[in-house]
Amino acid sequence: MFFPYTSGRKGMLGSEKEVGRVAQTVVVGVTGGIGAYKACELVRLLSRRGFRVKVVMTDAAMRFVTPLTFRTLTGEPVASSLWEEPAYGGVRHVSLAQEADVMVVAPCTANVIAKLAHGRADDMLTTTALAAQAPLVIAPAMNAEMWRKQVTRDNVAALRARGAVIVEPEAGELACGDVGEGRLAPVEDIADAVEAEACRARDLAGVRVLVTAGGTREAIDPVRFIGNRSSGKTGYAIAEEAARRGASVTLVAAPTCLADPYGAEVVRVTSALEMRDAVRAGFDRADLVVMAAAVADFRPEGPAEHKLKKDAGAPALALVRNPDILAELGERKDGRLLVGFAAETRDVLESARAKLEAKHLDLVVANDVGAPGRGFDADINRVTFVTAEGAEELPVLGKDAIARKLLDRIAEMLARRGQR
Ligand code: C5P
Repeated sequence: MFFPYTSGRKGMLGSEKEVGRVAQTVVVGVTGGIGAYKACELVRLLSRRGFRVKVVMTDAAMRFVTPLTFRTLTGEPVASSLWEEPAYGGVRHVSLAQEADVMVVAPCTANVIAKLAHGRADDMLTTTALAAQAPLVIAPAMNAEMWRKQVTRDNVAALRARGAVIVEPEAGELACGDVGEGRLAPVEDIADAVEAEACRARDLAGVRVLVTAGGTREAIDPVRFIGNRSSGKTGYAIAEEAARRGASVTLVAAPTCLADPYGAEVVRVTSALEMRDAVRAGFDRADLVVMAAAVADFRPEGPAEHKLKKDAGAPALALVRNPDILAELGERKDGRLLVGFAAETRDVLESARAKLEAKHLDLVVANDVGAPGRGFDADINRVTFVTAEGAEELPVLGKDAIARKLLDRIAEMLARRGQR
């Protein structure tokens, strides 16, 4: 039997206190569909599997099942209104969101899927979901036509691209009398998905990760630089996801417009040489390095001390090679896991394989930055993971989802090495 645990973060529960283990918390969101009665079974199953379960319901859900049912099954108060007084201090939706190791919405109506996809937060359930950092599992249930509608497909795709796990509905007889796809998935499948996310939620606990992100800037003079189109989004997503999964994360960030990732220590740098210093400083303490930064290969030989005047004519820029930070790390990796990126406009896989070998890497994330609307500056990308064993091509995904898949792969590699 599986007993999911985390350490430290939550309040101690009963007998687990003695053994120093704390059950993970699953927040179950119940929305207004006939499948709401099956959420009772789901809640029982999750409790039996060792989770602490807290339920949040929409108004519509309470027309199908009463909060008392869930309160009795879980032994916990049920949240439904944004306006009720919390049992103890604080703001209820925020505290519930913070307590969640995993949030699952089952059944999830087309309406709530649309709200979640668009970041709406107009009731307790959607507000909690928006405030939560935890992985999100969604088990849709609705009439077959609603499930088939393009707008629902698009909303589900948007959620999936952002990393939500969708437990697809089944085909069968529906409450409306139709036969088709839209029936809530079996509760065992939903509980399995929650359990997988709960495992993932702490699978990097104790791993020390160094991530680089953004594009370096190489000074021409005090106001001008040579830069590149990297937005830093992928590296930031990797840093945030690793921190969420329990890793201790240092992010060495070249200039970006992004907010600091939650839970990571950020070291800001500008040029490739500064990045090299910061990476070297963190390398000894790292178990894993992910070099997602677009490091300039060349820099102006001697940046001008004062701003260059246009009247003096076009300057001749002499460039010199920057050190290859990742290649240097590869020379002294000493058991660390090294991940590099290969952004190319042609021969992407061949270049990635060559980099894997030349720089002594464990994995290269290859992407074709020549494809319009993907890669640099975009929120989506199509990447291939290249390792010594082969290549795994991923579909077009959001950068959050790519970060997640990459860390799944890395967690597997660490587990195989016995580091996890
Ligand atoms: O050889 P190439 O520049 O294509 O390799 C890309 C990978 O190497 C990326 O992971 C990038 O972060 C890293 N790199 C580096 N130092 C450089 C250039 C690239 O660490 N000067």
